[in-house]
Amino acid sequence: MKSAPKHRGSHHASGKNKDDVSAEPELVTPTGVIQHFGSVARLPNSLGMAVAKRSVEKLNQILADTITLRDLYKKHHWQVTGPWFYQFHLLFDKHFNEQAALVDLIAERIQLLGGVSVAMGAHVAAQTRIELPPIGREDVAVQLSRLLKAHEVIVEDARKQSAHVADGDPGTADLLISNVLRTNELQTWFLAEHLVHSGFSEPQK
Ligand SMILES: [Fe+2]
Repeated sequence: MKSAPKHRGSHHASGKNKDDVSAEPELVTPTGVIQHFGSVARLPNSLGMAVAKRSVEKLNQILADTITLRDLYKKHHWQVTGPWFYQFHLLFDKHFNEQAALVDLIAERIQLLGGVSVAMGAHVAAQTRIELPPIGREDVAVQLSRLLKAHEVIVEDARKQSAHVADGDPGTADLLISNVLRTNELQTWFLAEHLVHSGFSEPQK
């Protein structure tokens, strides 16, 4: 005969069973996920399943790329060198924080659409389209170029996908334009200006 399941936090007619009372934490062995990655749960948000699924898929790609760009900023914040060390050290951290805010907005939009957000570094690495930098240190001009390429991947996709999802899911289109696109366009400008060689203020040889 099957033994009765152990009640956790359950209440009997006479009140709490005294055997249930314990100050010891009870760790639970993972037995499987409650929702598979790529699936969409129906939520009372009046969005059709096909619309929600499309938005979740597009957002997860942009999320993987945004998490990668965020981490690229921290790597460069730590490893930057040269006469403008302090300026870049601060700028890279400012952009890191702004990308971190985007990560949260995108991930939570995926969840509120009924999807599952990509989250862990190893899963992100398998999904991102941004090239993995070497583990070693790179020159600041290379750091800037690498960041600009990553921004371009996201800017291009945010612009394209915002148009695709606008019909049916304007909330996602708004996030992609007002937050993702505008933040990345602004950061692109701030980085790109450092790579302009006007000849006016070139260091003396
Ligand atoms: Fe720091």
